[in-house]
Amino acid sequence: MVAGMEFADVVRRRRMVRDYDPDRPVPAQVRERLLDHAIRAPSAGFSQGWAFLVLESAADRDRFWRATTGEEAPDAWLTRMRRAPLLIVPMSDKSAYLDRYAEPDKGWTDREEARWPVPYWDVDAGMAALLMLLTAVDEGLGACFFGIPPERLAAFRHSFGVPPGLRPVGCVAVGYPGEDDRRSPSLRRGRRPVEEVVHRGRW
Ligand SMILES: Cc1cc2nc3c(=O)[nH]c(=O)nc-3n(C[C@H](O)[C@H](O)[C@H](O)COP(=O)(O)O)c2cc1C
Repeated sequence: MVAGMEFADVVRRRRMVRDYDPDRPVPAQVRERLLDHAIRAPSAGFSQGWAFLVLESAADRDRFWRATTGEEAPDAWLTRMRRAPLLIVPMSDKSAYLDRYAEPDKGWTDREEARWPVPYWDVDAGMAALLMLLTAVDEGLGACFFGIPPERLAAFRHSFGVPPGLRPVGCVAVGYPGEDDRRSPSLRRGRRPVEEVVHRGRW
């Protein structure tokens, strides 16, 4: 893999990596670039209602996996994913958006959630996550976005002292790809072609 590649190549090469070389940590400057790029994501009203939990030490990563997956013996997916040397949990802060849009230039002082076409707080955290996924590819590393099960959220919050208003939208695992990587079986569905999903002018 080549670092600093053409943007089109970064997009084309981006895919979720589900095995990592446990002996190759993510260089500090790459970690910081991931985070610098994450905060370049757009955000509604420039609210920037996001937070990123960075877990790097073996103890912190182990705490993450124990909180989010439990104590049972890890399955094959988890065994490979646990090798990732860096985990970044992007979180969204709904109240930061409700506060921002209650400011005079926006004026939604009732903080009514029905005004929001979709939860922009989650959209923006997702955009930040995508920038991290693309940056990892650009740096010659691999990454995978995956979800935290709802029933594990309380344990996750408790383990890391996460304030109640913050919600993890998922987790981005980052590292150098391992030798036992597996593509998602979902890919057998095939990529829906442009002409199937794009409606030009009208439906
Ligand atoms: C919101 C979201 C949640 C996902 N959750 C998981 C997950 O829990 N586990 C996993 O292995 N992959 C997860 N994926 C990765 C998808 O399986 C993957 O993006 C899809 O199959 C297309 O493959 P590609 O990203 O490698 O092109 C998730 C992706 C997204 C966008």
